[in-house]
Amino acid sequence: MAKGKNKTVFFCKECGHESAKWLGQCPGCKEWNTFVEEPVVKSSGGSVQRIRERREPVRLSEVNVTREVRTLTQIGELDRVLGGGIVTGSLVLVGGDPGIGKSTLLLQMCQKLVKGGRNVLYVSGEESEKQIKMRADRLGDFGQDMLLLSETDLDLVVDTVQRMKPEVVIIDSIQTMYREELGSAPGSVGQVRETTAALMRLAKGMAISIFVVGHVTKEGVVAGPRVLEHMVDTVLYFEGDGSASYRFLRGVKNRFGSTNEVGVFEMRGDGLVEVSNPSEYMLQGRPEDEPGSVVACSMEGTRPILIEVQALVCQTNFNMPRRTAAGTDYNRVNLLMAVIEKRLGLHMGDCDAYINVAGGMRIHEPALDLAIVAALISSYRNTALSGGSICFGEVGLVGEVRAINMAEQRVLEAAKLGFKRCILPEVNRGQLEIKETQRKGMELIGIQTIHELLGVL
Ligand code: TYD
Ligand code: MG
Repeated sequence: MAKGKNKTVFFCKECGHESAKWLGQCPGCKEWNTFVEEPVVKSSGGSVQRIRERREPVRLSEVNVTREVRTLTQIGELDRVLGGGIVTGSLVLVGGDPGIGKSTLLLQMCQKLVKGGRNVLYVSGEESEKQIKMRADRLGDFGQDMLLLSETDLDLVVDTVQRMKPEVVIIDSIQTMYREELGSAPGSVGQVRETTAALMRLAKGMAISIFVVGHVTKEGVVAGPRVLEHMVDTVLYFEGDGSASYRFLRGVKNRFGSTNEVGVFEMRGDGLVEVSNPSEYMLQGRPEDEPGSVVACSMEGTRPILIEVQALVCQTNFNMPRRTAAGTDYNRVNLLMAVIEKRLGLHMGDCDAYINVAGGMRIHEPALDLAIVAALISSYRNTALSGGSICFGEVGLVGEVRAINMAEQRVLEAAKLGFKRCILPEVNRGQLEIKETQRKGMELIGIQTIHELLGVL
């Protein structure tokens, strides 16, 4: 070894906790087997300058607030999730599985911004300029001024940004960026942490908005990254089912807005298209008046989305009946079947049962219970619910139908889409404040137990 020992430390992959020796369990996040060894080079002053200056506390009442400056991306679904456009000087993390469409979404955002006369720099550590150009060609015209940079050395990127002074910068992806002086591989916890910190300083220092792409690992976190989530201003997750073409953009953290918003997109041959009416989209191709098909209403943030729940119940040919649940919780379905068996006396014990949330959505809301129960009963009895019915509500262990939140929005959405009957918890029905005209003639049926459900199916 030439110059002394190479120093290494251990980092927790989940939360970034640092330790001099390997630990089985992380003291920070209590996860097991998450420590990885990485080399560190203690930077000699250079990058991590801490200027200590004494600052006096100020009175809250005297703090000056100028409203943050925002730029609309002109992609409505994205603007909504961002809380009303891009905040100048903010650092936004866009996470998601590889191949879900993060680069496509951000490139389309760049397209709108450039067309609106903004200076945009798209930095890619994953694709060459040629590859980006080929993708851009599929997305349409970008005008003359869009800037591209294919680079992975963050110090060079920072230098370019300082020279070109763009208003919005995309870093695709954080896992490919590295700083020479750290000595560890790109994507390692130390690198991700340092490069993000450098980008944060850049965003705040120059008052530019930076979007950082982060891939999600198998464990479902952006690699290296709980740390990353803490550091940035806004975290958006882009998700969807590989086999389905819809995509959800969810706000997980937002220092400048609510995290309740969800943007819905569809991946087409020429890029992502906004879906402004997700309910209609989700119910496309639904069979009407078929046993086992029930429409429910789920909330995505503050947005009601109607979805179809399907059940198939049939006599089993096996010793152990088969049960599957696609798009919802398997154990919940088993539990609901037990409730039906015990409270309604319908003998499903020797039946195979399959539940599917059509469209590839995953829903873990209690409000789905009643629809699952209705679908199971409908399939078991081989009688269809009339096509114009919708139901939602939580089902308890003694067969009671319990109230759920945001019943009003759900009812209104069902009425808007022309449903004629809505089966809901009686408690919710009693509290609804919906005018006759808003209901559009839809009948509201409040029930207290799943026994009453049998009567109205
Ligand atoms: P991409 O944006 O590269 O995903 P990420 O950056 O999250 O890894 O999207 C990749 C997928 O999207 C790819 O499998 C092809 C598909 N796609 C389309 O279907 N239509 C399009 O117009 C584009 C650009 C991509
Ligand atoms: Mg990409």
